[in-house]
Amino acid sequence: MLRKNRFVSLRSKISKDMSNAQILRRQFLANVAQTSPSPMLVGVERAEGVFFYTPEGKRYFDLVSGVSVSNVGHANPVVVEAVKRQAERYMHVMVYGEMVERPQVEYAVEIAAALPDPLESVYFLNSGAEAVEGALKLAKRYTHRTEMISMRRAYHGSTHGAMSMMGEPEGEEWKNAFRPLLPDCKALDFNSFEDLAKITEKTACVLCEPVQGEAGVRLPQEGYLQALRKRCDEVGALLIFDEIQVGMGRTGEMFACQKYGVTPDIITLAKAFGGGMPLGAFVSSKEIMDSLQTDPVLGHITTFGGHPVCCAAGLAAFRYLKDNHVVEDVERKGALYEELLKDHPAVLEIRRSGLLLAVELGTEERLFKVMELFKEEGIMSDWFLYCATAFRISPPLVISDDEIRESVEIIRRVLDRL
Ligand SMILES: Cc1ncc(COP(=O)(O)O)c(C=O)c1O
Repeated sequence: MLRKNRFVSLRSKISKDMSNAQILRRQFLANVAQTSPSPMLVGVERAEGVFFYTPEGKRYFDLVSGVSVSNVGHANPVVVEAVKRQAERYMHVMVYGEMVERPQVEYAVEIAAALPDPLESVYFLNSGAEAVEGALKLAKRYTHRTEMISMRRAYHGSTHGAMSMMGEPEGEEWKNAFRPLLPDCKALDFNSFEDLAKITEKTACVLCEPVQGEAGVRLPQEGYLQALRKRCDEVGALLIFDEIQVGMGRTGEMFACQKYGVTPDIITLAKAFGGGMPLGAFVSSKEIMDSLQTDPVLGHITTFGGHPVCCAAGLAAFRYLKDNHVVEDVERKGALYEELLKDHPAVLEIRRSGLLLAVELGTEERLFKVMELFKEEGIMSDWFLYCATAFRISPPLVISDDEIRESVEIIRRVLDRL
């Protein structure tokens, strides 16, 4: 103990010569678990609107939005106020599904009203991966089948079940180290009409992102989602849309399923659904959802799912999107980005749905160079899990035209240096 104290005081002496930000960075590397050997290491002091600021006062344009989370902008006063008010009233009281809590009920009612029928019963959880886990279990429980189908280059989360649905062969890089995973999972080629025949009477569910995010923004071909819906209906398989990344206005409609006119049996939501707080959900018809209640009872339970503060934040953000007609302007803003960038010689292609853009540069070398320069110039962007040749533009949906133009100026300046 004595030795430990001496070590601590020695460390604090050395620390005097370092700035607080440097100390924090060192402690981050020593004591906060890392997900890769090369984290970004950008410090965050505060965030507001489409910007965040480092402890050194450097401003960054946030073109990632915490991976499609901050749709209503950082520190949106409406959300902050809702969080404060709910925290003062009550936080956690009892495990999920037992008590009548106003923030959960009100949010469920409004989400059900906004989703197409018969999506009306909302099971709240804490994250996207959990929403996917719940949806898969619900499909197995309802259909009494075990086979689960996903798409190649799909990402649905990092828990064992969600990871089992990372489509092969691309997903192998992540899956192999963690086997055995769930049995009875297979993958289709997204957009392959022929592959739909692999969905059969054995299939419990097909899990599909209507727009593939981590594949590098891949849009469904004309008629594909309709054909997928039809095939699922023919064989009695449930169709699950994962709208964790593309829901809550990102594609220019509140939900991507509305954009394509295809209603799934189950939809998963998270990320922007919590307005910046950790919240996820899977939503289905009441008939399907009720199958989780019995045989066995308590077959899917969670302590913190639907935390009242998270639901209050999510509801405030959802109302903000609606009251301020934010979603109605998303397609125009996305098109503005595309228009202002597409003629740059370094840009090979732009794939886009609303305000989710993949700007294709063609090689990893060019992309990594751009990432370094972005960091220097105060642009926060990222690449995609299955696509390390394109950078992401997915700013808060509240970004203004002036902010779009200013960020494009910086991006073009960086691309000029390639
Ligand atoms: C489409 C999709 N599904 C699920 C997830 C997993 O969500 P979470 O990280 O909250 O578990 C993600 C996360 O990026 C995602 O993009």
